[in-house]
Amino acid sequence: MGDHSNVTAALAAVDEDYYTLRPDGSLVTQSTAAGAIVETLGRLDVRTGMRVLEIGTGSGFSGALLSELVGPQGSVVSVDVVAGLSERARELHGSRGRTNVDLVTGDGALGAPGHGDFDRIVAWTTPRLLPGVWVEQVARGAVIVTPVELAPSVRTAAILRARVDPERGPEGEYLFAGRYVEMHGEELDQWLVPPRGVDALVCARDGRELWISAPWATEDGEAARRALKVVADGDTARVRVLEPGESAVDLTAYLYARHPEDISVVGLGGPAWGVGSADADGAAVFTAADAGSAVHGGGPAPLERVHAWVAEWREAGRPGYADLWPVLTRTDGGWRVRAELAGV
Ligand SMILES: C[S@@+](CC[C@H](N)C(=O)[O-])C[C@H]1O[C@@H](n2cnc3c(N)ncnc32)[C@H](O)[C@@H]1O
Repeated sequence: MGDHSNVTAALAAVDEDYYTLRPDGSLVTQSTAAGAIVETLGRLDVRTGMRVLEIGTGSGFSGALLSELVGPQGSVVSVDVVAGLSERARELHGSRGRTNVDLVTGDGALGAPGHGDFDRIVAWTTPRLLPGVWVEQVARGAVIVTPVELAPSVRTAAILRARVDPERGPEGEYLFAGRYVEMHGEELDQWLVPPRGVDALVCARDGRELWISAPWATEDGEAARRALKVVADGDTARVRVLEPGESAVDLTAYLYARHPEDISVVGLGGPAWGVGSADADGAAVFTAADAGSAVHGGGPAPLERVHAWVAEWREAGRPGYADLWPVLTRTDGGWRVRAELAGV
């Protein structure tokens, strides 16, 4: 799990508000919650003198923590696609005398060519695959901690810890729950619809924008739009699917491992979205608002499928993230990551 005591010391040495708040007191939209940063940095296992690549500068807060962790002997290269964020972080680090952080504006999918070899790479934005160039820019035995999608649909991410073996390439060590904004090539002007991976988008009569991402929707956009229309303009209901104490996070982890191709991810308008099942006649998905129930609209088949998955998951002993095993496969542009159930 890594040494959390140096992360705790770094946290005490860095003023979070200095990085995450703008002069008018508003929060930098792209800030990551401190708790999530601490968990990830603990797992990254950063030591004094290391060279670290950070993808997703955001507010600059996580970069400042990395700068503390590597110390004056080490260095941090932090990449963000938004020039304004790189410039802001450069100024903030500069005024605090942090000279071991290099800010780069660019597409982090390319890593930081010419700055390697890195001992650690950490990403705060989700690629579809583990990019091949990241693996090429690291030193022997390096560790990469990054969110990555575990199924063909967008927003099916978990966080991967991988170690790079010089002969065998990257090897997945474990996965844990978490995800960040999808990697995008340009500055975003909205945060509700994923910047990539959406197969169909419809506008409901009340103006909400619904979207879907699923292998079947990629193949049949017309059917996908029909499903979204049914959910957008028909009646939807919350149907209790899990018993108290059962975890939708664990169920989702199980679905990533067992049914990655069958998962549909549906945006229900505004920030609401969920993972579940959908077909041309409707959808049933778990949302963050009440993870024990599914939002169901349209025909019965998606809800029946969700009930069947839950029964199967109970039968398997309700496995969750702790039971997942990351499996990396070389493909165009990088390493596809899928989860398998350990010991099954
Ligand atoms: C969750 S924020 C990072 C927050 C940061 N860890 C902090 O402490 O504030 C994700 C960042 O990734 C950046 N990003 C998204 N796509 C990117 C890409 N292709 N390359 C580099 N950065 C990217 C976004 O602009 C955003 O600043």
